[in-house]
Formats: sequence, structure tokens, C-alpha cells
Amino acid sequence: MKEKLEAIKAAAKSAVSAAAGEKEIEELRVKYLGKKGELTAMLKQMGSLAPEERPAAGQLVNEAKQWLESLIAQKKEELKSKATELKLKAETIDITMPGKEVAAGGLHPINIVVNDMIDIFQSMGFDVVDGPEVETDYYNFECLNVPADHPARDMQDTFYLADGLLLRTQTSAAQIRTMENRRPPIHAICPGRVFRADEVDATHSPVFHQLEGLVVDKGITMCDLKGVLEQFAKEIYGSDTKVRFRPSFFPFTEPSVEVDVSCSECGGKGCRVCKGAGWIEILGAGMVHPNVLRCCGIDPDVYSGFAFGIGIDRITTTRYKISDIRLLFENDKRFLEQF
Ligand code: DAH
Repeated sequence: MKEKLEAIKAAAKSAVSAAAGEKEIEELRVKYLGKKGELTAMLKQMGSLAPEERPAAGQLVNEAKQWLESLIAQKKEELKSKATELKLKAETIDITMPGKEVAAGGLHPINIVVNDMIDIFQSMGFDVVDGPEVETDYYNFECLNVPADHPARDMQDTFYLADGLLLRTQTSAAQIRTMENRRPPIHAICPGRVFRADEVDATHSPVFHQLEGLVVDKGITMCDLKGVLEQFAKEIYGSDTKVRFRPSFFPFTEPSVEVDVSCSECGGKGCRVCKGAGWIEILGAGMVHPNVLRCCGIDPDVYSGFAFGIGIDRITTTRYKISDIRLLFENDKRFLEQF
């Protein structure tokens, strides 16, 4: 019996040491120590021995079992750590590789300029109001003293939608909504997107931006208009900026003006930014037409007001010396990263 036990031990030892995986080792455990295992079978054979031989033989088999159990446990441990080692080697991270770049967002130059403009007008007491981009003919034209047959409509052809709706051509539409919703004194600005059926080129886009301003109160005059717009021009372009008011025409103001600022790049001598003119046109303005006030239920014999519409894209391109307005709408990261 002793020889048989030694033979089993020797076979088990070499089998365990040769085992290459956890599955194999488990199979060996079952083969020797399982219910029908070889060592278990030897214990069962005790009955066939003489009673006085049994204790010593039983002890031998039990010792053999314990020995094999710990041998198997040890081998299992060994295999496990080997597997971990292999896995770690396979998953090695090269910490010297450059990381993935996380692109940080920033404000679009138009938004930077709008925010600055809002700051300037808020410091003068203006509120910011909003108006819809999809407008009715009434707010965009009719109540602004531009009836259906008015030739001024030609210059503001737009995108027409169903049910008499259109994409607003000017933020001036927000003036009417503001005067309908508020009673004087009114001091409001409305920055926003506007749309026209214009061909795209370096200075035109079918989508662009305006900032509308409106003041209505008792005793408002052209002096107030001049003062506010001069102050604005100096704050946005610098304190030595000169401002020029030229007579103009808008159906919703009387009198009307167009306002130019001296070119901040060349100081008025003429350069690439101002296209040699020395001046840059930035806005249209005027005293609110009595018909417009009347249309909004405000008595023009009691109240007067001024209004203006500033071209935000023009302010942006001149401030940052952007030669082509299309750059503002293309969303090219290489361009946008510069602001
Ligand atoms: N809405 C005009 C345009 O798009 C600009 C303008 C002129 C706005 C005079 C005004 C204004 O409020 O009073 O050309």
C-alpha cells in the first residue's frame, strides 16, 4: 500500500508541476482528491486492511492528501500571479505618449463685441430686450412706416415663410414690440440676428447682426441722439474717435442720419480697413417718425424719441481687422481660436 501511495504522490507531483492553467489544476484536484479521486479511493480501501494496520495507513493517506492539497494551492497561486503579470505586461501604458488634446471653447468674436456693446449701453441706462427672428410683416415693415408698396422694401428683400411670416430684415421690428409692451420713458436695446436675400461676398451675408436702440420720453431731441451715439463710438473704438453724422433717409425716422466713425486703424488718413475713406459707417439712426409712435399708441405731440441700428458685424470686422465677413460664419477653428 505504501508503494502505491508513493507512486500516486510521485505522479501527482509531476502532473501538478507540469500543469499550465487553472483549469488543468482543477482537473488534477478532482482526479486525486475528488469524491472518486485516487487518494479518496485509497481511504475507502482501509476496510480491507487488518484492524491494527488501519490507523497508521489512514494517517499516511491523510498526510498525502494534505500534502497534495497544499501543493495544488501553491500551484494555483503561482499560476494566478503569472497570469496577472502577463496581463499587466500586455496592457502597459506608455506614459510618455502625448495626451489627447481637449479643445477649450471660447466666445465667438461677434459675441465678444455684442457683450461689450451691451455693457456700454447698460451703463447709460438701457435695458436689453429680445425680439423674434421670425416676424410678421406688420412688425418688420408696416408699423415702421413701410407700407406694402413702399420702395424701401426693395432694399430689404428677405426670406418669406408661410402665413405672412418672414425672417426679420432689421432689429427695428423689436422697437415696435417694445413700444407696444412698455410706456415711456423707454430706454431699450435689442441685439440680434437679421436676414436678407443678399448674395454672399466679402462684405455681405444673408445672415448678419444688428443692435437696435430706442429711447422715447418727453423732450427727447437730436442732441440726445448725438450724445449717446458719440459716447458709444468713443467707448467702443477709443476716446480720440471722431464721429460724423450724415443726413440720410429711413421711413421710420425723421430726420434720419447715418453715422461714421474715424478709422481707428489709420486715424482718418485712409487705409485697408476703411478702404481708403478714413471713415467707417457703423449705424443708421434718427428721430422716431410720428407715424411710428402713433402706430404704437404713443402721442407724438407729447412724446418724442430717437432710434438707431448698429451693424455689429461691421464693428467686429473693423475692430479685429477681419478682411472678409464670411470668416465670421464659417466656424473655422483656426480663425476662431484667435479671439
Ligand atoms: N433698420 C435700419 C437698417 O437695417 C437701421 C436703422 C436706421 C435703425 C435708423 C433705426 C433707425 O432704428 O432709427 O438699415
